[in-house]
Amino acid sequence: MPPQPAASSQTWSQRFETALHPAIAQFNASIGFDIELVEYDLTGSQAHAQMLAHTGIITPDEGDQLVKGLDQIRQEYRQGFFSPGVDAEDVHFAVERRLTQILGDLGKKLHTARSRNDQVGTDTRLYLRDQMQEIRAQVREFQTALFHLAEQHVETLIPGYTHLQRAQPISLAHHLMAYFEMAQRDWERLGEVYRRVNVSPLGCGALAGTTFPIDRHYTAELLNFDGVYANSLDGVSDRDFAIEFLSTASLIMMHLSRLSEEVILWASQEFSFVTLKDSCATGSSIMPQKKNPDVPELVRGKTGRVFGHLQAMLVLMKGLPLAYNKDLQEDKEALFDAVKTVRGCLEAMTILLQEGIEFRTSRLAEAVAEDFSNATDVADYLATKGVPFREAYNLVGKVVRTCLAANKLLKDLSLDEWQTLHPAFEADIYQAIAPRQVVAARNSYGGTGFEQVRQAIENARQRLRQD
Ligand code: ARG
Repeated sequence: MPPQPAASSQTWSQRFETALHPAIAQFNASIGFDIELVEYDLTGSQAHAQMLAHTGIITPDEGDQLVKGLDQIRQEYRQGFFSPGVDAEDVHFAVERRLTQILGDLGKKLHTARSRNDQVGTDTRLYLRDQMQEIRAQVREFQTALFHLAEQHVETLIPGYTHLQRAQPISLAHHLMAYFEMAQRDWERLGEVYRRVNVSPLGCGALAGTTFPIDRHYTAELLNFDGVYANSLDGVSDRDFAIEFLSTASLIMMHLSRLSEEVILWASQEFSFVTLKDSCATGSSIMPQKKNPDVPELVRGKTGRVFGHLQAMLVLMKGLPLAYNKDLQEDKEALFDAVKTVRGCLEAMTILLQEGIEFRTSRLAEAVAEDFSNATDVADYLATKGVPFREAYNLVGKVVRTCLAANKLLKDLSLDEWQTLHPAFEADIYQAIAPRQVVAARNSYGGTGFEQVRQAIENARQRLRQD
Protein backbone atom coordinates (compact mmCIF):
# COMPACT_ATOMS: atom_id res chain seq x y z
CA MET A 1 0.00 0.00 0.00
CA PRO A 2 1.41 3.40 -0.91
CA PRO A 3 1.32 5.92 1.92
CA GLN A 4 -2.10 7.50 2.17
CA PRO A 5 -2.10 11.26 1.85
CA ALA A 6 -4.00 13.39 4.28
CA ALA A 7 -7.37 14.28 2.88
CA SER A 8 -7.19 17.59 1.15
CA SER A 9 -8.73 19.93 3.66
CA GLN A 10 -9.39 22.77 1.27
CA THR A 11 -12.03 23.21 -1.35
CA TRP A 12 -11.14 25.03 -4.55
CA SER A 13 -13.48 27.95 -4.10
CA GLN A 14 -16.91 28.64 -2.83
CA ARG A 15 -18.12 26.74 -5.85
CA PHE A 16 -17.07 23.45 -4.24
CA GLU A 17 -18.81 22.00 -1.23
CA THR A 18 -16.51 19.15 -0.36
CA ALA A 19 -12.80 18.52 -0.51
CA LEU A 20 -11.15 16.12 -2.95
CA HIS A 21 -11.15 12.41 -2.21
CA PRO A 22 -7.69 11.68 -0.81
CA ALA A 23 -6.84 9.19 -3.56
CA ILE A 24 -7.93 11.67 -6.20
CA ALA A 25 -5.88 14.39 -4.51
CA GLN A 26 -2.85 12.12 -4.70
CA PHE A 27 -3.62 11.23 -8.32
CA ASN A 28 -4.05 14.84 -9.29
CA ALA A 29 -0.97 16.19 -7.55
CA SER A 30 2.28 17.00 -9.30
CA ILE A 31 4.15 18.30 -6.27
CA GLY A 32 6.05 14.99 -6.02
CA PHE A 33 7.97 15.93 -9.14
CA ASP A 34 7.34 19.58 -10.00
CA ILE A 35 9.11 20.68 -6.81
CA GLU A 36 12.10 20.48 -9.19
CA LEU A 37 10.77 23.75 -10.65
CA VAL A 38 10.52 25.61 -7.35
CA GLU A 39 13.41 28.04 -7.89
CA TYR A 40 12.10 28.87 -11.36
CA ASP A 41 8.60 29.34 -9.98
CA LEU A 42 10.01 31.82 -7.46
CA THR A 43 11.97 33.67 -10.12
CA GLY A 44 8.98 33.81 -12.46
CA SER A 45 6.73 34.98 -9.63
CA GLN A 46 9.18 37.71 -8.65
CA ALA A 47 9.20 39.04 -12.19
CA HIS A 48 5.40 38.92 -12.24
CA ALA A 49 5.20 40.82 -8.94
CA GLN A 50 7.62 43.45 -10.22
CA MET A 51 5.54 43.85 -13.35
CA LEU A 52 2.34 44.22 -11.30
CA ALA A 53 4.00 47.08 -9.42
CA HIS A 54 5.55 48.58 -12.56
CA THR A 55 2.15 48.78 -14.27
CA GLY A 56 0.40 50.13 -11.17
CA ILE A 57 -1.76 47.05 -10.71
CA ILE A 58 -0.36 46.85 -7.16
CA THR A 59 1.63 49.49 -5.25
CA PRO A 60 5.45 49.59 -5.39
CA ASP A 61 5.56 48.70 -1.71
CA GLU A 62 3.34 45.67 -2.26
CA GLY A 63 5.59 44.64 -5.12
CA ASP A 64 8.67 44.87 -2.89
CA GLN A 65 7.07 42.84 -0.14
CA LEU A 66 6.01 40.11 -2.56
CA VAL A 67 9.54 39.90 -3.97
CA LYS A 68 11.02 39.72 -0.44
CA GLY A 69 8.51 37.10 0.65
CA LEU A 70 9.42 34.99 -2.38
CA ASP A 71 13.11 35.45 -1.51
CA GLN A 72 12.38 34.13 1.96
CA ILE A 73 10.79 31.00 0.48
CA ARG A 74 13.90 30.53 -1.65
CA GLN A 75 16.08 30.63 1.47
CA GLU A 76 13.76 28.23 3.26
CA TYR A 77 13.88 25.86 0.31
CA ARG A 78 17.66 25.99 0.10
CA GLN A 79 17.95 25.31 3.81
CA GLY A 80 15.60 22.37 3.52
CA PHE A 81 12.63 23.91 5.35
CA PHE A 82 10.27 24.14 2.43
CA SER A 83 8.97 20.71 1.49
CA PRO A 84 5.29 20.90 0.70
CA GLY A 85 3.16 17.74 0.67
CA VAL A 86 0.42 16.42 -1.54
CA ASP A 87 -2.16 18.76 -0.02
CA ALA A 88 -0.44 21.61 -1.87
CA GLU A 89 -1.22 19.87 -5.17
CA ASP A 90 1.56 21.49 -7.12
CA VAL A 91 4.56 23.74 -6.72
CA HIS A 92 2.62 26.83 -7.78
CA PHE A 93 -0.02 26.43 -5.09
CA ALA A 94 2.65 25.49 -2.57
CA VAL A 95 4.53 28.75 -3.17
CA GLU A 96 1.39 30.88 -3.09
CA ARG A 97 0.20 29.23 0.12
CA ARG A 98 3.53 29.75 1.85
CA LEU A 99 3.69 33.35 0.64
CA THR A 100 0.26 33.96 2.14
CA GLN A 101 1.44 32.49 5.44
CA ILE A 102 4.39 34.89 5.38
CA LEU A 103 2.63 38.03 4.12
CA GLY A 104 -1.01 37.48 5.06
CA ASP A 105 -3.59 38.80 2.61
CA LEU A 106 -0.97 40.51 0.47
CA GLY A 107 0.27 37.06 -0.58
CA LYS A 108 -3.10 36.51 -2.18
CA LYS A 109 -2.44 39.36 -4.60
CA LEU A 110 0.41 37.55 -6.36
CA HIS A 111 -1.87 35.60 -8.64
CA THR A 112 -3.53 38.75 -10.06
CA ALA A 113 -3.47 38.66 -13.88
CA ARG A 114 -1.89 35.22 -13.99
CA SER A 115 -2.98 31.61 -14.31
CA ARG A 116 -1.11 28.45 -13.42
CA ASN A 117 -1.27 27.74 -17.13
CA ASP A 118 1.04 30.54 -18.20
CA GLN A 119 2.95 30.13 -14.93
CA VAL A 120 3.84 26.47 -15.44
CA GLY A 121 4.81 27.17 -19.04
CA THR A 122 7.15 29.90 -17.85
CA ASP A 123 8.71 27.73 -15.14
CA THR A 124 9.29 24.82 -17.49
CA ARG A 125 11.00 27.00 -20.06
CA LEU A 126 13.21 28.65 -17.43
CA TYR A 127 14.22 25.21 -16.17
CA LEU A 128 14.86 23.78 -19.60
CA ARG A 129 16.86 26.73 -20.79
CA ASP A 130 19.26 26.37 -17.84
CA GLN A 131 19.57 22.65 -18.40
CA MET A 132 20.19 23.12 -22.10
CA GLN A 133 23.07 25.44 -21.37
CA GLU A 134 24.58 22.83 -19.07
CA ILE A 135 24.06 20.07 -21.60
CA ARG A 136 25.60 22.19 -24.32
CA ALA A 137 28.71 22.69 -22.18
CA GLN A 138 28.81 18.95 -21.54
CA VAL A 139 28.65 18.25 -25.27
CA ARG A 140 31.65 20.53 -25.66
CA GLU A 141 33.57 18.55 -23.02
CA PHE A 142 32.68 15.33 -24.74
CA GLN A 143 33.93 16.77 -28.04
CA THR A 144 37.12 17.94 -26.36
CA ALA A 145 37.77 14.44 -25.05
CA LEU A 146 37.27 12.99 -28.55
CA PHE A 147 39.51 15.69 -29.95
CA HIS A 148 42.38 14.90 -27.57
CA LEU A 149 42.15 11.20 -28.30
CA ALA A 150 42.07 11.92 -32.03
CA GLU A 151 45.14 14.15 -31.77
CA GLN A 152 47.05 11.23 -30.25
CA HIS A 153 45.94 8.73 -32.86
CA VAL A 154 46.28 10.31 -36.29
CA GLU A 155 48.85 7.69 -37.27
CA THR A 156 47.17 4.77 -35.53
CA LEU A 157 45.42 2.57 -38.07
CA ILE A 158 42.22 0.69 -37.39
CA PRO A 159 40.12 -1.48 -39.70
CA GLY A 160 37.23 0.46 -41.18
CA TYR A 161 33.99 -1.48 -41.65
CA THR A 162 30.87 -1.55 -43.72
CA HIS A 163 28.26 -4.20 -42.86
CA LEU A 164 30.58 -4.94 -39.94
CA GLN A 165 32.90 -6.54 -42.49
CA ARG A 166 36.44 -5.29 -42.89
CA ALA A 167 36.33 -2.69 -45.66
CA GLN A 168 39.33 -0.34 -45.77
CA PRO A 169 41.85 0.62 -43.13
CA ILE A 170 41.46 4.11 -41.72
CA SER A 171 43.13 6.44 -39.27
CA LEU A 172 41.76 5.93 -35.75
CA ALA A 173 41.60 9.72 -35.44
CA HIS A 174 39.30 9.80 -38.47
CA HIS A 175 37.00 7.31 -36.77
CA LEU A 176 36.93 9.33 -33.55
CA MET A 177 36.42 12.59 -35.40
CA ALA A 178 33.28 11.16 -36.99
CA TYR A 179 31.79 11.27 -33.48
CA PHE A 180 33.17 14.76 -32.99
CA GLU A 181 31.17 15.85 -36.05
CA MET A 182 27.98 14.22 -34.75
CA ALA A 183 28.46 15.98 -31.43
CA GLN A 184 29.10 19.24 -33.26
CA ARG A 185 25.66 18.98 -34.84
CA ASP A 186 24.20 18.21 -31.40
CA TRP A 187 25.87 21.31 -30.02
CA GLU A 188 24.55 23.45 -32.86
CA ARG A 189 21.09 21.94 -32.56
CA LEU A 190 20.95 22.76 -28.86
CA GLY A 191 21.66 26.38 -29.72
CA GLU A 192 18.99 26.45 -32.42
CA VAL A 193 16.31 24.83 -30.27
CA TYR A 194 17.22 27.13 -27.39
CA ARG A 195 15.94 30.09 -29.39
CA ARG A 196 12.46 28.57 -29.45
CA VAL A 197 12.60 27.47 -25.82
CA ASN A 198 13.46 30.97 -24.73
CA VAL A 199 10.10 32.60 -25.45
CA SER A 200 7.80 33.84 -22.69
CA PRO A 201 4.22 32.63 -22.29
CA LEU A 202 3.83 34.69 -19.09
CA GLY A 203 0.80 36.94 -19.32
CA CYS A 204 -1.14 34.61 -21.64
CA GLY A 205 -3.31 33.97 -18.58
CA ALA A 206 -5.50 30.90 -18.51
CA LEU A 207 -5.92 31.01 -22.29
CA ALA A 208 -7.19 34.37 -23.43
CA GLY A 209 -4.98 37.03 -21.91
CA THR A 210 -6.15 39.24 -19.06
CA THR A 211 -8.29 42.28 -18.34
CA PHE A 212 -5.44 43.88 -16.37
CA PRO A 213 -3.04 46.33 -18.05
CA ILE A 214 -0.04 43.99 -17.78
CA ASP A 215 3.25 44.39 -19.62
CA ARG A 216 4.38 41.05 -21.02
CA HIS A 217 7.52 42.48 -22.55
CA TYR A 218 8.56 43.79 -19.16
CA THR A 219 8.44 40.34 -17.51
CA ALA A 220 10.07 38.79 -20.57
CA GLU A 221 12.94 41.22 -20.24
CA LEU A 222 13.31 40.65 -16.50
CA LEU A 223 13.48 36.92 -17.12
CA ASN A 224 15.88 37.24 -20.07
CA PHE A 225 13.48 35.74 -22.56
CA ASP A 226 14.23 36.61 -26.18
CA GLY A 227 10.59 37.25 -27.01
CA VAL A 228 6.96 36.61 -26.06
CA TYR A 229 4.32 34.29 -27.50
CA ALA A 230 2.18 36.23 -29.96
CA ASN A 231 -1.00 34.21 -29.33
CA SER A 232 -2.23 33.49 -25.83
CA LEU A 233 -3.89 30.16 -26.72
CA ASP A 234 -0.68 28.97 -28.34
CA GLY A 235 1.40 30.34 -25.48
CA VAL A 236 -0.29 28.24 -22.79
CA SER A 237 -0.65 25.05 -24.78
CA ASP A 238 2.48 24.87 -26.91
CA ARG A 239 4.90 22.09 -26.01
CA ASP A 240 6.84 22.12 -29.28
CA PHE A 241 9.82 23.40 -27.33
CA ALA A 242 9.77 20.29 -25.13
CA ILE A 243 9.42 17.99 -28.12
CA GLU A 244 12.25 19.74 -29.91
CA PHE A 245 14.41 19.36 -26.85
CA LEU A 246 13.52 15.66 -26.51
CA SER A 247 14.32 15.15 -30.15
CA THR A 248 17.68 16.86 -29.72
CA ALA A 249 18.31 14.78 -26.60
CA SER A 250 17.35 11.64 -28.53
CA LEU A 251 19.90 12.42 -31.22
CA ILE A 252 22.59 12.98 -28.58
CA MET A 253 21.70 9.64 -27.01
CA MET A 254 21.66 7.91 -30.39
CA HIS A 255 25.19 9.17 -31.06
CA LEU A 256 26.40 8.14 -27.61
CA SER A 257 24.77 4.77 -28.06
CA ARG A 258 26.52 4.11 -31.37
CA LEU A 259 29.86 4.95 -29.82
CA SER A 260 28.97 2.74 -26.86
CA GLU A 261 28.22 -0.18 -29.14
CA GLU A 262 31.62 0.23 -30.79
CA VAL A 263 33.44 0.40 -27.47
CA ILE A 264 31.63 -2.75 -26.33
CA LEU A 265 32.66 -4.55 -29.51
CA TRP A 266 36.21 -3.24 -29.34
CA ALA A 267 36.56 -4.42 -25.75
CA SER A 268 35.47 -7.96 -26.61
CA GLN A 269 38.10 -10.65 -26.87
CA GLU A 270 37.12 -11.12 -30.51
CA PHE A 271 38.13 -7.56 -31.41
CA SER A 272 40.55 -6.77 -28.58
CA PHE A 273 41.04 -3.24 -29.95
CA VAL A 274 40.75 -1.54 -26.55
CA THR A 275 41.37 -2.23 -22.91
CA LEU A 276 39.04 -0.70 -20.38
CA LYS A 277 40.78 0.77 -17.36
CA ASP A 278 39.80 -0.44 -13.93
CA SER A 279 38.32 2.95 -13.01
CA CYS A 280 35.67 2.60 -15.70
CA ALA A 281 34.93 -1.13 -15.86
CA THR A 282 33.24 -3.58 -13.57
CA GLY A 283 33.64 -7.22 -12.62
CA SER A 284 31.34 -10.19 -12.43
CA SER A 285 30.03 -11.54 -9.14
CA ILE A 286 30.75 -15.10 -10.23
CA MET A 287 33.31 -15.12 -13.07
CA PRO A 288 36.52 -13.75 -11.61
CA GLN A 289 38.24 -13.33 -14.98
CA LYS A 290 35.65 -10.88 -16.31
CA LYS A 291 35.86 -7.17 -16.94
CA ASN A 292 32.60 -5.75 -18.19
CA PRO A 293 31.90 -2.59 -20.20
CA ASP A 294 29.01 -1.50 -17.97
CA VAL A 295 29.33 2.19 -18.77
CA PRO A 296 28.74 1.95 -22.52
CA GLU A 297 26.15 -0.77 -21.95
CA LEU A 298 24.19 1.49 -19.61
CA VAL A 299 24.42 4.38 -22.02
CA ARG A 300 23.16 2.15 -24.83
CA GLY A 301 20.37 0.94 -22.55
CA LYS A 302 19.32 4.37 -21.30
CA THR A 303 18.99 5.62 -24.87
CA GLY A 304 15.65 3.85 -25.15
CA ARG A 305 14.27 5.84 -22.24
CA VAL A 306 14.92 9.15 -23.92
CA PHE A 307 13.45 7.93 -27.23
CA GLY A 308 10.45 6.78 -25.20
CA HIS A 309 9.96 10.21 -23.65
CA LEU A 310 10.01 11.81 -27.11
CA GLN A 311 7.40 9.35 -28.33
CA ALA A 312 5.29 9.86 -25.20
CA MET A 313 5.33 13.64 -25.67
CA LEU A 314 4.32 13.42 -29.31
CA VAL A 315 1.43 11.13 -28.45
CA LEU A 316 0.49 13.33 -25.50
CA MET A 317 0.06 16.30 -27.83
CA LYS A 318 -1.51 14.84 -30.91
CA GLY A 319 -5.14 14.91 -29.85
CA LEU A 320 -5.17 17.88 -27.51
CA PRO A 321 -7.74 20.54 -28.26
CA LEU A 322 -6.75 24.11 -27.47
CA ALA A 323 -5.80 25.34 -24.99
CA TYR A 324 -4.49 23.99 -21.66
CA ASN A 325 -5.49 20.46 -20.70
CA LYS A 326 -4.34 18.65 -17.60
CA ASP A 327 -2.64 16.10 -19.86
CA LEU A 328 0.10 18.70 -20.12
CA GLN A 329 1.12 18.02 -16.53
CA GLU A 330 2.61 14.83 -17.95
CA ASP A 331 5.31 16.78 -19.80
CA LYS A 332 7.45 17.30 -16.73
CA GLU A 333 8.52 13.82 -15.72
CA ALA A 334 9.49 13.13 -19.34
CA LEU A 335 11.60 16.27 -19.50
CA PHE A 336 13.21 15.82 -16.09
CA ASP A 337 14.13 12.22 -16.76
CA ALA A 338 15.46 12.98 -20.24
CA VAL A 339 17.58 15.82 -18.86
CA LYS A 340 18.95 13.66 -16.06
CA THR A 341 19.64 10.76 -18.40
CA VAL A 342 21.38 12.73 -21.09
CA ARG A 343 23.49 14.59 -18.54
CA GLY A 344 24.53 11.41 -16.76
CA CYS A 345 25.39 9.67 -20.01
CA LEU A 346 27.41 12.59 -21.38
CA GLU A 347 29.37 12.77 -18.15
CA ALA A 348 30.08 9.03 -18.02
CA MET A 349 31.10 8.78 -21.69
CA THR A 350 33.36 11.80 -21.38
CA ILE A 351 35.15 10.23 -18.41
CA LEU A 352 35.41 6.97 -20.31
CA LEU A 353 37.13 8.75 -23.19
CA GLN A 354 39.32 10.83 -20.91
CA GLU A 355 40.66 8.06 -18.75
CA GLY A 356 38.80 4.80 -19.17
CA ILE A 357 39.87 3.50 -22.51
CA GLU A 358 43.20 2.51 -23.98
CA PHE A 359 43.67 1.59 -27.61
CA ARG A 360 45.84 -1.49 -28.14
CA THR A 361 47.93 -0.05 -30.93
CA SER A 362 50.02 -3.14 -31.65
CA ARG A 363 46.92 -5.28 -31.93
CA LEU A 364 45.38 -2.65 -34.24
CA ALA A 365 48.51 -2.67 -36.41
CA GLU A 366 48.23 -6.45 -36.72
CA ALA A 367 44.54 -6.21 -37.50
CA VAL A 368 45.01 -3.92 -40.49
CA ALA A 369 47.80 -6.10 -41.88
CA GLU A 370 46.00 -9.41 -41.77
CA ASP A 371 43.10 -8.96 -44.16
CA PHE A 372 42.08 -7.98 -47.68
CA SER A 373 41.05 -4.45 -46.83
CA ASN A 374 43.69 -3.20 -49.29
CA ALA A 375 41.92 -4.88 -52.23
CA THR A 376 40.31 -1.63 -53.45
CA ASP A 377 43.80 -0.19 -53.66
CA VAL A 378 44.90 -2.93 -56.05
CA ALA A 379 41.95 -2.07 -58.28
CA ASP A 380 42.75 1.66 -57.98
CA TYR A 381 46.40 0.84 -58.85
CA LEU A 382 45.35 -0.83 -62.09
CA ALA A 383 42.85 1.93 -62.84
CA THR A 384 45.59 4.57 -62.62
CA LYS A 385 47.57 2.45 -65.09
CA GLY A 386 44.70 2.75 -67.59
CA VAL A 387 42.72 -0.43 -66.86
CA PRO A 388 39.02 0.49 -66.68
CA PHE A 389 37.97 0.36 -63.01
CA ARG A 390 35.24 -2.29 -63.40
CA GLU A 391 37.66 -4.58 -65.23
CA ALA A 392 40.28 -4.02 -62.55
CA TYR A 393 37.67 -4.70 -59.86
CA ASN A 394 36.77 -8.05 -61.43
CA LEU A 395 40.39 -9.04 -61.77
CA VAL A 396 41.14 -8.22 -58.12
CA GLY A 397 38.14 -10.32 -57.08
CA LYS A 398 39.85 -13.21 -58.81
CA VAL A 399 43.16 -12.39 -57.11
CA VAL A 400 41.46 -12.43 -53.69
CA ARG A 401 39.84 -15.77 -54.44
CA THR A 402 43.21 -17.24 -55.51
CA CYS A 403 44.85 -15.89 -52.34
CA LEU A 404 42.10 -17.31 -50.12
CA ALA A 405 42.55 -20.72 -51.73
CA ALA A 406 46.31 -20.55 -51.16
CA ASN A 407 45.89 -19.13 -47.65
CA LYS A 408 47.87 -16.04 -48.57
CA LEU A 409 47.40 -12.31 -48.24
CA LEU A 410 47.86 -9.88 -51.14
CA LYS A 411 51.24 -8.80 -49.82
CA ASP A 412 52.45 -12.45 -49.98
CA LEU A 413 52.14 -12.67 -53.78
CA SER A 414 55.43 -12.60 -55.66
CA LEU A 415 55.99 -10.05 -58.43
CA ASP A 416 55.83 -12.91 -60.93
CA GLU A 417 52.45 -13.92 -59.62
CA TRP A 418 51.21 -10.32 -59.84
CA GLN A 419 52.46 -10.00 -63.39
CA THR A 420 50.85 -13.26 -64.42
CA LEU A 421 47.58 -11.83 -63.15
CA HIS A 422 48.08 -8.62 -65.12
CA PRO A 423 51.10 -7.25 -66.95
CA ALA A 424 50.46 -3.73 -65.58
CA PHE A 425 51.67 -4.75 -62.10
CA GLU A 426 55.13 -3.53 -61.21
CA ALA A 427 57.31 -3.63 -58.09
CA ASP A 428 55.59 -0.54 -56.64
CA ILE A 429 52.45 -2.62 -56.02
CA TYR A 430 53.85 -3.62 -52.61
CA GLN A 431 54.13 -0.02 -51.58
CA ALA A 432 50.64 0.72 -52.91
CA ILE A 433 49.00 -1.95 -50.74
CA ALA A 434 50.87 -1.31 -47.49
CA PRO A 435 48.22 -0.26 -44.92
CA ARG A 436 49.90 3.06 -44.13
CA GLN A 437 50.02 3.98 -47.80
CA VAL A 438 46.45 2.78 -48.31
CA VAL A 439 45.32 5.25 -45.65
CA ALA A 440 47.61 8.09 -46.70
CA ALA A 441 46.44 7.84 -50.30
CA ARG A 442 42.81 8.64 -49.44
CA ASN A 443 43.54 12.29 -49.48
CA SER A 444 40.23 13.46 -50.91
CA TYR A 445 38.48 16.18 -48.88
CA GLY A 446 36.96 14.64 -45.73
CA GLY A 447 38.76 11.34 -46.33
CA THR A 448 41.02 9.37 -44.01
CA GLY A 449 44.35 10.44 -45.56
CA PHE A 450 46.63 11.69 -42.76
CA GLU A 451 46.81 15.13 -44.33
CA GLN A 452 43.02 15.38 -44.38
CA VAL A 453 42.73 14.13 -40.82
CA ARG A 454 45.26 16.69 -39.61
CA GLN A 455 43.28 19.41 -41.34
CA ALA A 456 40.04 18.13 -39.81
CA ILE A 457 41.66 18.27 -36.38
CA GLU A 458 42.84 21.84 -36.96
CA ASN A 459 39.39 22.77 -38.09
CA ALA A 460 37.93 21.16 -34.95
CA ARG A 461 40.35 23.14 -32.79
CA GLN A 462 38.87 26.33 -34.25
CA ARG A 463 35.32 25.15 -33.74
CA LEU A 464 35.97 24.23 -30.12
CA ARG A 465 36.78 27.89 -29.50
CA GLN A 466 33.36 28.99 -30.80
CA ASP A 467 30.55 29.83 -28.48
N1 ARG B 1 0.42 21.27 -12.16
C1 ARG B 1 -0.14 21.79 -13.37
C2 ARG B 1 0.73 21.31 -14.56
O1 ARG B 1 1.77 20.88 -14.30
C3 ARG B 1 -0.15 23.27 -13.34
C4 ARG B 1 -1.15 23.89 -14.25
C5 ARG B 1 -2.53 23.56 -13.80
N2 ARG B 1 -3.49 24.24 -14.55
C6 ARG B 1 -4.83 23.91 -14.51
N3 ARG B 1 -5.61 24.58 -15.25
N4 ARG B 1 -5.24 22.90 -13.77
O2 ARG B 1 0.33 21.37 -15.69
